[in-house]
Amino acid sequence: MTKTRVTARAHTNIALIKYWGKRDTELFLPMNSSLSLTLDEFYTDTTVSLIEGNSDQFVLNGELQEIKEINKISQFIDLFRKVAGHQSAIKVESTNHVPTAAGLASSASAFAALGTALNELFELNFDQTTLSTFVRQGSGSATRSIFGGFVEWQMGTKSDGSDSCANKIDNADWNIAMLTIPVNTGKKEISSREGMKLTVETSPFYPAWVEQAGKDLITIKEAISQRDFIRLGEITEANGMKMHGTMLGATPPFSYWEPLTVKVLQRIREIRGLGLPCYYTMDAGPNVKVICQANQADQIKQLLDDTFPNNPTIISGVGRDAYILSAE
Ligand code: ADP
Ligand code: DP6
Ligand code: CO
Repeated sequence: MTKTRVTARAHTNIALIKYWGKRDTELFLPMNSSLSLTLDEFYTDTTVSLIEGNSDQFVLNGELQEIKEINKISQFIDLFRKVAGHQSAIKVESTNHVPTAAGLASSASAFAALGTALNELFELNFDQTTLSTFVRQGSGSATRSIFGGFVEWQMGTKSDGSDSCANKIDNADWNIAMLTIPVNTGKKEISSREGMKLTVETSPFYPAWVEQAGKDLITIKEAISQRDFIRLGEITEANGMKMHGTMLGATPPFSYWEPLTVKVLQRIREIRGLGLPCYYTMDAGPNVKVICQANQADQIKQLLDDTFPNNPTIISGVGRDAYILSAE
């Protein structure tokens, strides 16, 4: 091994067809395939370096992390160390240019950046598809952040997870943008991991979700191939709401929504009524994301900012593949 320090960047992604539930929690194999848009505005930069000693170190946003977080990272690094046949301890220094654990997909950019950096440090030369199967085991949504544009994560059928990988299906270079309306960027009480587990185990709506997600994926891929923005938006909005519906059926029931979330969704519907196509989706958190046409993003932002001056909307274009920023 010749390198000692590598920095990588990966962008977050927001699912239009959601991943919500695992069939295998060890290997992070999903119950359904999903599809996302990578965002250029939100990303994680992660530096990995070889260090002396036996224990890994983890600094996130300038703060030394506690043992629980270090263990999570160490387990993930082990996947790469095993293939590389390398024992070295690693220092991970990461900065999120996205709120952490707020339902804005920090875990997606986080593990995609870390995996991309480790692939380079250990000179493993995984291609992007293979790398996506590795980063999946840090956080499922990270699978999709290896690629830019519209990305599909195929659930796969193999029990070892080797075919549960991501692929870019479209560059999304046809007037696509995404808005984020921050409702609450604090750390959520129920992590995505816990939330989806409780839903799979207890919600009677869950089997219907899996069936619907399969159908929605087929139709959204048709809409993308036809560049039919309206259909893409309608499917996105309906799919996200179905996912949130499953949580109300869980025992105990739970929801990531806040009062302002509902007001934002209502305003989006009004703006759509004005003749500006825009469609909402939400991940495991109260913040609202809106897919719109890039040439109308400023106008829609203005309308939202007029109504919610304390929660200024952030416009994002389409993000690129995860990549190496520096290696030495
Ligand atoms: P989110 O909606 O932000 O993806 P999750 O509950 O899925 O929320 O994941 C948040 C968790 O991801 C954090 O609690 C932390 O364990 C991990 N995480 C976030 N950012 C990083 C990072 N840059 N490096 C490593 N792990 C991270
Ligand atoms: C609602 O990928 O954060 O954002 O695999 O347990 O780390 P783990 O969960 P995570 O879940 C994302 C859930 C979602 C939908 C999505 O991104 O597809
Ligand atoms: Co996450």
